[in-house]
Amino acid sequence: MRHLSVPSAQTQRWLELCRAHNWSSNEAGVTRLEGGRNALPLNDSAPDATHQVWEGNPHVEVSVQPKEPNHWLKHLDPELTLQFKDFWPRSYEVQGDVLIVKIEREVWDYGETIADAMLTQLPNVRLVCADLGVKGEFRVRDLHPLASRDGTVTTRTRIKENGYLLWVDPSEVYFSSRLSNERRETLETAKRLRARLERPLVVCDPYAGVGPSMGALLNENGLVSGGLVGDLNPQAFTLLEMNIAYLSSRQKDANGNSMPALKPMVVSCQDAQEWAQNADHIATVDLLLVNLPHHSIEHLPGVLPLLKTNQTTVLRGWAIVETASTDIQHDEIHNAIHALGGIIEAFTFKEVKGFSTTKSFMCFEVWLNLPA
Ligand SMILES: C[S@@+](CC[C@H](N)C(=O)[O-])C[C@H]1O[C@@H](n2cnc3c(N)ncnc32)[C@H](O)[C@@H]1O
Repeated sequence: MRHLSVPSAQTQRWLELCRAHNWSSNEAGVTRLEGGRNALPLNDSAPDATHQVWEGNPHVEVSVQPKEPNHWLKHLDPELTLQFKDFWPRSYEVQGDVLIVKIEREVWDYGETIADAMLTQLPNVRLVCADLGVKGEFRVRDLHPLASRDGTVTTRTRIKENGYLLWVDPSEVYFSSRLSNERRETLETAKRLRARLERPLVVCDPYAGVGPSMGALLNENGLVSGGLVGDLNPQAFTLLEMNIAYLSSRQKDANGNSMPALKPMVVSCQDAQEWAQNADHIATVDLLLVNLPHHSIEHLPGVLPLLKTNQTTVLRGWAIVETASTDIQHDEIHNAIHALGGIIEAFTFKEVKGFSTTKSFMCFEVWLNLPA
């Protein structure tokens, strides 16, 4: 293929010039030549080598390997691609080695073809599943396996988030990587509370799912001294136990030394509202997380008694609310705390950005002090 040979230091300038005139070929990249020069691929519309625009830089023939396709669609038959151009999936989600994709009805018959193309393009994906919506009491995703790299169709997989590993299973348990920023903010809040209390924290995450928030907290040296962690979904509980065991075993104290397994870390498969029915758990928690977005606020009276009394504690929760009624929800959070005689030291109620829903996905954080 015809290339323009230029001194390497001028590569960018010539690339820009060729692109601006549509003279670049996108069938190859820049090739390094001997003698401190680079070769830029040209297409047929570029002027010939004698043209003064090249400022004396010669044209050379460089044999190029065809560029690897950079999109799964390029592994499909071009005619087919064109025929259904408005219906191919435009996005997908990957959890560990499982890819989840919504397939439009018009191309459903090509589900396996799509999945094969995705497996070809994405070497780290083992299983491609069609997302059929949500199912069951815990509203987890209904996934239909389309193609597997090694014949296995289990959706249990392991992801890495913010430096720690978590077992997840998108067809059994809720997990959203989109909330990893929220978990980072939970960590920052927890560090501020530790600084205020001058000691590690007891944390309660009673709607823990597979435990991603605990991952963020346990991964921080010397932050957590104990916890109450649970989920009502038995499948979530199985993965939660595995994740907490792994995270606890790696826990370090404030000096970075390994810590013995946390004695007071209770992991349970139960309704969040039941924790406070056990007298042993009442008034034991410094940081309480409430993540049941459609019901978080109405659940508050049942979980607030877990917070310690006569000291600063933090309640952090997430709620999906009608955008028009955020004031009402705001008041309900206040009321739940005032009903216990609590004093609110600081309150934030803000929308979580980037969450595409017609309603608002809100995060509330309350620094409070409950009386004994
Ligand atoms: C929105 S998910 C949040 C999971 C996790 N905190 C996260 O951020 O990935 C809510 C979780 O609450 C669990 N759940 C639903 N109702 C519950 C209840 N009454 N008590 C405890 N857990 C419940 C669900 O199984 C689900 O795992």
